[in-house]
Amino acid sequence: MSVTAAANAAYIVAALLFIMSLAGLSKHESARSGVVYGIAGMVTALVATVVVAVQDAPATGIVLLFGAMVIGASIGLWRARVVEMTGIPELIALLHSFVGLAAVLVGWNGYLEHEPYATLSLERIHHGEVFVGVFIGAVTFTGSIVAFLKLSARIKSAPLVLPGKNYLNLGALVAFFLLTVLFIADPNIWLLVLVTAVALALGWHLVASIGGGDMPVVVSMLNSYSGWAAAAAGFLLSNNLLIVVGALVGSSGAYLSYIMCQAMNRSFISVIAGGFGIEAAAGDETEYGEHREVDAEGVAELLANASSVVITPGYGMAVAQAQYPVADLVRRLRERGVDVRFGIHPVAGRLPGHMNVLLAEAKVPYDIVLELDEINDDFADTSVVLVIGANDTVNPSAAEDPSSPIAGMPVLHVWESSDVIVFKRSMAAGYAGVQNPLFFRENTQMLFGDAKQRVEDILRAL
Ligand code: TAP
Repeated sequence: MSVTAAANAAYIVAALLFIMSLAGLSKHESARSGVVYGIAGMVTALVATVVVAVQDAPATGIVLLFGAMVIGASIGLWRARVVEMTGIPELIALLHSFVGLAAVLVGWNGYLEHEPYATLSLERIHHGEVFVGVFIGAVTFTGSIVAFLKLSARIKSAPLVLPGKNYLNLGALVAFFLLTVLFIADPNIWLLVLVTAVALALGWHLVASIGGGDMPVVVSMLNSYSGWAAAAAGFLLSNNLLIVVGALVGSSGAYLSYIMCQAMNRSFISVIAGGFGIEAAAGDETEYGEHREVDAEGVAELLANASSVVITPGYGMAVAQAQYPVADLVRRLRERGVDVRFGIHPVAGRLPGHMNVLLAEAKVPYDIVLELDEINDDFADTSVVLVIGANDTVNPSAAEDPSSPIAGMPVLHVWESSDVIVFKRSMAAGYAGVQNPLFFRENTQMLFGDAKQRVEDILRAL
């Protein structure tokens, strides 16, 4: 069997491993094996690709290849070891930008250096692939950089609203189609320069126009774009595995974006079209009145007398790394016969499944961790709700105020319970930058301070 045939067989094995990995990652119980399948698939793919590349490469090529692999692997290992759980979304956004950049470089390389094809139609198909690959790659590249800057709070997350923003996006798409036709007829380098510039600007503008509560969808949308960029590069490099994996990432990212839009009651088209139809929010002048405060001893007393408790964690629990004392608190309360459950909002935290990962890490049993739909009708019969570092996901204005920027987003109806305790450090707004009327309700008390320290204080008082 030739080396190329062996590599193609290895690619089929790798593609199957990637599909098994996706299937495994869809459930808590099988997530670990999903990761192992993913690693096995990646090692298989990498070894096969390197063997094919080394086969007839000159010595300098081999040195460059291994040099790049060592540098890339070292940076990857270092970042993966030091990244905080709260920093994962921005790291993912940055990694997507690399995929986009790689697709642009592969596209340009495919234009500058390729063996002429036997027929004009094959030549034209090649030029079409170059153009599409560069376009998708460049949109992904700048879009991911803006997402990285927003998620790491280096720039404001509020949507940019340029006059006629939808026409700008539409104009860029029309320009892309026209330029593609021209380029296929006459592959002039300046057309490629132009489409690269248009796509870079479009990616930047698309993501800058989406903001606040819609950012979770952007991350999965860019995940999808990076998949299509990789698939486009796969066509150019005639690499079947890259095409298959790109399509897997592209379609699963698109499906995840769709599910998240449904969970947040947002229009999928509106979000992927750069916030099409989303108006800039007016400033909030509402007077909410006074909030009430409580200390850890007061909360301990409330919990000691409660029959049922629901905990709704959010981004603040991740920042404080409060999941371990929270798990201890749950254990203690359950030993006393209190019914304790968790209510998890689909976009709590900063990445899909963020809270589930943290709670699994702290060994909280899966069967008491419920989703929004499963718990939302039970709040009225709950004695105490502990809102630990959550804000937007428990904001009643989403359900009650049609003029709110997060209006229509399903939220956890924590305010329907007898008592609500909110753990946070100040009265500051959450990720979407919207004030939360929950903090001023009659049955709400604020427990200020770092969530981890406050939960430990409660444990001591109990
Ligand atoms: P957020 O609305 O982000 O609020 C988190 C709260 O935690 C803040 O109000 C903050 O208040 C508090 N906090 C921060 N550090 C803390 C600490 N050490 N101890 C105690 N409290 C602390 O949280 P959420 O309810 O989880 O909502 C998530 C938001 O992020 C949504 O708007 C969602 O759209 C967005 N988002 C989600 C994702 C995904 S995929 N999940 C991705 C990107 C964006 P203080 O500063 O006063 O302490």
